[in-house]
Amino acid sequence: MKLLWAVTALLLSCWRADASTAGFIKSPLSQMKLTNDSGELHCEVVGNPIPEVQWWFVEGEEPNETFTQLFDGARNDRVKINATYIAHATSTIHLTSLTLEDSGTYECRASNDPDRNELKKTPKIKWIRSQANVIVIETPNIHTEPSEVTNQTSAVLSCNLTDTAMSSKGSHWTFNGKIIENSKKDGNTHHTTHKLEKITHANSGKYECVFLTDPEVKQTIEVRTLPHVAAYKHSEHGNENDKVVLVCVSHGYPLPTDWLWFKQNADETQVSITNGTEKYEIKNTPNKTSLTINNLNIDSDLGHYICSGSNELGVATDKINLRVRSRLAALWPFLGIVAEVIILVTIIFIYEKRRKPDEVNDDDDSGSAPLKSNSNANHKDKNVRQRNSN
Ligand SMILES: *[C@@H]1O[C@H](CO)[C@@H](O)[C@H](O)[C@H]1NC(C)=O
Ligand SMILES: *[C@@H]1O[C@H](CO)[C@@H](O)[C@H](O)[C@H]1NC(C)=O
Ligand SMILES: *[C@@H]1O[C@H](CO)[C@@H](O)[C@H](O)[C@H]1NC(C)=O
Ligand SMILES: *[C@@H]1O[C@H](CO)[C@@H](O)[C@H](O)[C@H]1NC(C)=O
Ligand SMILES: *[C@@H]1O[C@H](CO)[C@@H](O)[C@H](O)[C@H]1NC(C)=O
Ligand SMILES: *[C@@H]1O[C@H](CO)[C@@H](O)[C@H](O)[C@H]1NC(C)=O
Ligand SMILES: *[C@@H]1O[C@H](CO)[C@@H](O)[C@H](O)[C@H]1NC(C)=O
Repeated sequence: MKLLWAVTALLLSCWRADASTAGFIKSPLSQMKLTNDSGELHCEVVGNPIPEVQWWFVEGEEPNETFTQLFDGARNDRVKINATYIAHATSTIHLTSLTLEDSGTYECRASNDPDRNELKKTPKIKWIRSQANVIVIETPNIHTEPSEVTNQTSAVLSCNLTDTAMSSKGSHWTFNGKIIENSKKDGNTHHTTHKLEKITHANSGKYECVFLTDPEVKQTIEVRTLPHVAAYKHSEHGNENDKVVLVCVSHGYPLPTDWLWFKQNADETQVSITNGTEKYEIKNTPNKTSLTINNLNIDSDLGHYICSGSNELGVATDKINLRVRSRLAALWPFLGIVAEVIILVTIIFIYEKRRKPDEVNDDDDSGSAPLKSNSNANHKDKNVRQRNSN
């Protein structure tokens, strides 16, 4: 009897109620890729105790296949593995800059058997496996005409998908990553064009022709224009001794690589403004520049300021007129209100002063002044009513 209890206790301690062998929740998916693309395979496993997940690359045919384990940083750092080591384990393998040699079978392996890595004992449950094929094919050539558009007023962009057996379900163009709706075409086409009637800063940017092959292939044509530079406000004002911030923004492609600020003198000459002095501070991003002018002087700081943005195609400028108000000027609205209040109070005071003696007179000799007949009549009515009620 004692022995039986001991055996039961031993069994119970070995077998925990919630223990479970590892099982796949998500398996990696097979995919087609182009050379130089990147791809990822994802695998999810549940189990208790926590399962270990590994990635293997399988080469050759059965029974002579070879297995190579893939670690984070393998293949000259073109392999990255991101895994979470919990009861619901996930593991994602990222493959970058794919080459033709990366084609093959990738295997997600998982096990939570405590003896899984033991060399002498064979584990009760071996590793479970799930495989996916990655096929890398040579990126087909897309011939673009022109290869880029620079400083033109109109253009026809065209793409030819050449030297490929891939069949395409259609094609379209994108502008800065967004599909141009009316450029969608169906059918097995290897040639597509897109017409730009009028090129301005607003439609300059990156155009891409996309062929709906499997996988998709695409090529970019850049349309470059002079930058468009505009003052945020063409007229600014600041108060004496305060500071003011002048802002210019830019649109178009490419955005300015250089921003400059100038002050225009009365004789139309321009003086370059240098950054980082006590007076001036310039802050730039590609699409925005701001000039802060500190401690405004009423005489020397007013006038026209010019912001100038330049990219490789040239320069664009805009002008801001700065007015500086005296410290006192800032007080004028307040003083105005004070003055208004004083005048109002005075008027009311005078009016009240003149009114009071009149009222006294009214009561004394009612009906004596024919010009005030209306008010007298009212008074009389009141008197009548009062008499009646008495
Ligand atoms: C692959 O990409 C790299 C940089 O992303 C580029 O320099 C190289 O030319 C590309 N190779 C091919 C064959 O497209
Ligand atoms: C596996 O290798 C052996 C010897 O190396 C060879 O005889 C056999 O034909 C190979 N099998 C396959 C399927 O390649
Ligand atoms: C790794 O995975 C975690 C959770 O899934 C995610 O938050 C993190 O950004 C990933 N890291 C990389 C380098 O992909
Ligand atoms: C594209 O191919 C078509 C037909 O094959 C040809 O007429 C056209 O000239 C080609 N265009 C370019 C830009 O290569
Ligand atoms: C101007 O100077 C300030 C501080 O000295 C600095 O933070 C800022 O980046 C400078 N701007 C430019 C355009 O060099
Ligand atoms: C400037 O670019 C930033 C991001 O690069 C963007 O958030 C912002 O809206 C842009 N501003 C303008 C005026 O285009
Ligand atoms: C672009 O065109 C403008 C006027 O149309 C001209 O001033 C400028 O020099 C041109 N830039 C280049 C790089 O050709």
